[in-house]
Amino acid sequence: MAKTKTSFFCQNCGAQYAKWLGQCKSCNEWNTIVEEIIQKEEKRAWKQTSKIKKANKAVKINEIATVKEDRVSTKNNELNRVLGGGLVKGSVVLLGGEPGIGKSTLVLQIALSIQKKVLYVSGEESQAQIKMRAERLKKTNENCFVLTETNTQNIFRTIEEFTPEIVVIDSIQTLHTDYIESAAGSISQIRETTAELIKFAKETATPVILIGHITKDGNIAGPKILEHMVDVVLQFEGDRNHVYRILRAQKNRYGSTSELGIYEMLNNGLNEIINPSEILISQKDTDISGTAIAATLEGVRPLMIEVQALVSTAVYGTPQRSTTGYDTKRLNMLLAVLEKRAGFRLGAKDVFLNITGGIKVDDPAIDLAVISAILASNEDEAIAQDFCFAAEIGLTGEIRPVRKVEQRILEAEKLGFSKIFISKFNKLSKDNFTIKVVKVTKVEDVFSNLFV
Ligand code: TYD
Ligand code: MG
Repeated sequence: MAKTKTSFFCQNCGAQYAKWLGQCKSCNEWNTIVEEIIQKEEKRAWKQTSKIKKANKAVKINEIATVKEDRVSTKNNELNRVLGGGLVKGSVVLLGGEPGIGKSTLVLQIALSIQKKVLYVSGEESQAQIKMRAERLKKTNENCFVLTETNTQNIFRTIEEFTPEIVVIDSIQTLHTDYIESAAGSISQIRETTAELIKFAKETATPVILIGHITKDGNIAGPKILEHMVDVVLQFEGDRNHVYRILRAQKNRYGSTSELGIYEMLNNGLNEIINPSEILISQKDTDISGTAIAATLEGVRPLMIEVQALVSTAVYGTPQRSTTGYDTKRLNMLLAVLEKRAGFRLGAKDVFLNITGGIKVDDPAIDLAVISAILASNEDEAIAQDFCFAAEIGLTGEIRPVRKVEQRILEAEKLGFSKIFISKFNKLSKDNFTIKVVKVTKVEDVFSNLFV
């Protein structure tokens, strides 16, 4: 028997060392280096092809023939959009997200609706559990095969037998290969099993979807190189207590990363949301103080989002500032601007801020809606329900232009808003919108126009 060979791996970045160290030299994290058993063998699990290595020739870029990637539609418009038009043949897609967010549901839904021969490999759930989920989704696909297996060599054996057109792995952290001895989920296992699957995908032009766990700080568990190895990295996010889920591309070798897919989790699976703006604005009959609508842009997709603020007298000595879906530091900055530049005394008030629908927003264009909601709550006056806002606030209280303002205006117009507040410095190529565009330069200008 060959001598057991071990090596030390940083669990954070995947760097390999010959001996143990307290701090990783590559990512500077402490106590992340763990010994793992490896058995290095040159052979790979997936069929070995060319034995003799031939050197490749360099070719002029102009002479390379353009090939249009062959795409498979997933029968799911939101996912197709995020992928850039469907699954590319031979591509490897990594889908990450928190536990319970709906990763398995999304891929099973695709596997059932795609009407192609799919092999769904699960290392986490039994066949009965998957069947139960499929029944919940109320979909069937004659050609969807379920395999509960964690050994890649056995998986490849089944693949050779079934010749699936799409392979789904739930999840990469549960797989192990015979060629490496460390435990499933360890850095070397993840790296090796992914490499084997990538080799399989490229050689057979079969798309592979990998589900990946994430660590507590939101990154995909395993070495960072995992994300470099695959072609597409998708992130599925949202608040588990809310129904909305957002699918984003973090990396896409075949399309843009600014596309976004929006779903809601219902009793019978994930439902695609075609008009997100209409849903994210809460329906109410009467005017309530403390809400304002922001015309934001997530990637390239305009989204009308409702901001709710509650300003009340602080009961305790230190006023509280609490936010959901918005950066608390940014809120503190906006409050300081209001205090210093516009003379509003909010220093002794509690301020709570909430973005409805459990969505996180980092688009700075939401600033103006945030301060409008805060002031409306402070004054206890309602802003008309058909007003909306799209501008960033600077430290001097100036209202700054935002990108793609016309797209936001058109979205607001489409949804029947009557007025949109934007920065005076935003250049518009036309000015005959049906919606009234109010251009403002200072925070004070907004308030004189708000409550009418
Ligand atoms: P799941 O896909 O198992 O999450 P993940 O694979 O990301 O861990 O989804 C888990 C949650 O989704 C679970 O809490 C129940 C909920 N769910 C629904 O609300 N409706 C459904 O139709 C399904 C299948 C799941
Ligand atoms: Mg799962």
